Amino acid sequence: MSITPEACLEIAATAARAAGGHARTQRHRRGEANQRLAHDVKLALDVECQGIVEAIIRERAPGHAILGEESVGAAETVDADTPLWIVDPIDGTVNFSHGLPFWCCSIGVRLGARSLAGAVYAPDTDELYTATCDGPALCNGAPLHVSSVAAIGDAVVMTGLDKQLDPSLPPFEIFRAISVRAQKARIIGSAALDLCHVAAGRADAYFESGIYIWDIAAAALIVERAGGRAELIGEMGHGRLRFLASNGLIHEAVRDIVQSAFSLQPST
Ligand code: IPD
Repeated sequence: MSITPEACLEIAATAARAAGGHARTQRHRRGEANQRLAHDVKLALDVECQGIVEAIIRERAPGHAILGEESVGAAETVDADTPLWIVDPIDGTVNFSHGLPFWCCSIGVRLGARSLAGAVYAPDTDELYTATCDGPALCNGAPLHVSSVAAIGDAVVMTGLDKQLDPSLPPFEIFRAISVRAQKARIIGSAALDLCHVAAGRADAYFESGIYIWDIAAAALIVERAGGRAELIGEMGHGRLRFLASNGLIHEAVRDIVQSAFSLQPST
């Protein structure tokens, strides 16, 4: 199934803008919840936005597979020749549901283990972050580059709290460990936007434990194409991941901090 990374990006960007635009114009319905959990919410608009993205992909890239936060399980048996579209229709759902502006629509495209393209659209700032595997990282068409911060003590490190608050992985321990060493640790509540901030050089690293592939699929490529580094540190089962991305210069320092905080084995 042949499609160029550029064609994937064009479709991903169109779909991200369409879904993000729908959520923005329908924000007065942000309280419509299908399910409320202790530390999360499932919104009706999340499902609608997933439907908008899927309709565009199915029309423009028929036969491709789709894995979405709101359509989980649909794409578990994808063969290596079929592109997989990985969709988070609203990343930062809790922010969106409260009216905070830190949310986005994230769409990544992979062929096997290779990322082909990624688009992240932040409707409240009208910022479209994009990259292909062989092109530059851009925000609204302007090139992105990671920061040159080389010391952890000068760094802003984005992180998040595991929404399952697993007692065996004390969620505040990682925040404490990063806070002690970095200039500042920050939690804004949208992993994809966190990564875009790293790509743009506004933050220097991002780490989270308990994240899902749809939170990072698009923006990890954007970080890499902006000159940074993205690394899957571990898998926790049930699709939950430990993921680190950085400007490259403080990567080892952040990895050391999180590995000692969680007593992880060094990755090879
Ligand atoms: C969440 C956000 C948040 C992160 C959570 C994610 P969602 O995604 O990215 O920043 O801390 O782990 O699940 O649920 O809003 O799409």
